Amino acid sequence: MKLIITKDSIEGGTKAFELIKDAMANGAKTLGLATGSTPLAMYDAMCKSSLDFSEMISINLDEYYGIDPTNAQSYHYFMQKHLFDKKPFKHSYVPNGLAKDIDQEVDRYNQIIAQNPIDLQILGIGQNGHIAFNEPGTPFNSLTHKVDLTESTIKANSRFFKDESEVPHQAICMGIKSIMHSKKIVLMAFGKEKQDAIKALVEGPITEQVPASILQDHPDVTVICDEAASAKL
Ligand code: F6R
Repeated sequence: MKLIITKDSIEGGTKAFELIKDAMANGAKTLGLATGSTPLAMYDAMCKSSLDFSEMISINLDEYYGIDPTNAQSYHYFMQKHLFDKKPFKHSYVPNGLAKDIDQEVDRYNQIIAQNPIDLQILGIGQNGHIAFNEPGTPFNSLTHKVDLTESTIKANSRFFKDESEVPHQAICMGIKSIMHSKKIVLMAFGKEKQDAIKALVEGPITEQVPASILQDHPDVTVICDEAASAKL
């Protein structure tokens, strides 16, 4: 695992963007993408760059369940706003949060991932060590699945909603096994709230209680964090 410590999220996002650029120069065709506040600076750097993504495929990690793609809090909306409106991809996949048949949607998403092996996966990390919406206790061999969000994640995400009661309690999420199949992984973490999660990810035992800890077993992971997030290492 490679660790890059940056002064702040802007520098961290720029580093992550450079890793995407290098991967594309080396033939990467499919990017795995995340939402949340962590990758914003990276998306900004992508949008401001002259890089062309129109021959690339993107596959997002997750989407809230029961939320319309036009809802400003949906991850579809987030991706349009922060990346795809400015930098369209050849095809961008995000789980369908309105799918009536959840099992069918899960199968569909697993097929998409199988048909488009992810060359570089971008990840954030939750304060409890979750990656995507894979909460503590998620089996390491999980594929795409429907998840029940924990109280701490609902609370952390409520800052994006008018009220905590509006935060969906479920999501569709790429599984840990699929994430681990990505050729390269870049995980970013910024801010002191992520200190414990970063310590557990980098130094802790590999346990399903800290989903991100499995990344220690991946052959090509770069962790980019700011000084605050790395303070306990
Ligand atoms: C979002 C996702 C989540 C976030 C994590 C951190 O697609 O996969 O795991 O990366 O919850 O969220 P932020 O970046 O808002 O701190």
